[in-house]
Amino acid sequence: MVSLTQMLASNALISTSLPPNLVAVFLGGTSGIGESTLKAFVSHTIRPKVYLVGRSRISADRIIEECRTLGPEDHIGESEIVFLQADLSLMKVVERVFTPEGLHKFLATAYYDRTLVMQHLTPLLINGANSSSDGNLDMPALKIPFSAIRGHMGTLVTLTLEASAATAEPNKISFIHGNPGLVRTPYQDKMQGAFGVFARSLMWIKKITGTDIPLDESGERHLFLLTSARYAPGGVPIPDGDLAIGTDGLKGSGRARKVISTLGKYRKEGMVDKVWAHVQGEYERIRRS
Ligand SMILES: NC(=O)c1ccc[n+]([C@@H]2O[C@H](COP(=O)([O-])OP(=O)(O)OC[C@H]3O[C@@H](n4cnc5c(N)ncnc54)[C@H](OP(=O)(O)O)[C@@H]3O)[C@@H](O)[C@H]2O)c1
Repeated sequence: MVSLTQMLASNALISTSLPPNLVAVFLGGTSGIGESTLKAFVSHTIRPKVYLVGRSRISADRIIEECRTLGPEDHIGESEIVFLQADLSLMKVVERVFTPEGLHKFLATAYYDRTLVMQHLTPLLINGANSSSDGNLDMPALKIPFSAIRGHMGTLVTLTLEASAATAEPNKISFIHGNPGLVRTPYQDKMQGAFGVFARSLMWIKKITGTDIPLDESGERHLFLLTSARYAPGGVPIPDGDLAIGTDGLKGSGRARKVISTLGKYRKEGMVDKVWAHVQGEYERIRRS
């Protein structure tokens, strides 16, 4: 486990270890975790170009203004931030937004993929844990109890990222499925009904017990994931040389070991291909309609 101190130390080296003019795309960068990661990125990199995607122009204008005061010493306010206003829950919007900006088509696909999974298809997808062994896959998750949805979605996203990684050139792109912990953001306020009350109460308990993740810290943690050589060749060098264990890794302990072993079981059952085929089928169905 990497400590927060190690992460902050690594982030402090970004401006001297990585080249200037890095380009980053933040989907959902106008609030919460995305915004804090964007600001951490701008704070630590030299003359970055940032594509900020979201629906709220007011939030984007505020963030662009705030970023004028951010940057490494002698490079404050040198970032270029391009706001792309888009509702990413619509696939055709995703394709329209990315390609005219000259971004590589793969980026559009990779982000489009994640966006669909996280924001559009989430309620429709797999519960490999409950259904793989009897061969009756409930991909749309129509019969999955609410209590199992979180694990259901987590498994789906990890397997989908594995499938995406298989289509990319090895060691050129890293796919990371992060768990931010509980971070106080406007997200909890937007939740409706009993679930919203539950989420805000849980957040309050986390806050008073000091087990929540402060928003700024979350940004630094995600920036570390984006920039450390622990996760991608060419990143900020790691003193201990210890690379992160992939989802197919053999090491790991406790919960990590259980997750890795569960994923291994799914892989043997061909679940990566099944999930990928399902997601592609859904894309095609939505495109046609
Ligand atoms: N906060 C937590 O404790 C926590 C824990 C685990 C996982 N997560 C996950 O982390 C992610 C970010 O959460 P957060 O807490 O930072 O939430 P947040 O503060 O509500 O931010 C959500 C971001 O997504 C953008 N967005 C939402 N719907 C969109 C759409 N249809 N098209 C384009 N942009 C859209 C919003 O921008 P606009 O409003 O401008 O569109 C905003 O920038 C979520 O996927 C959440 O499930 C959060």
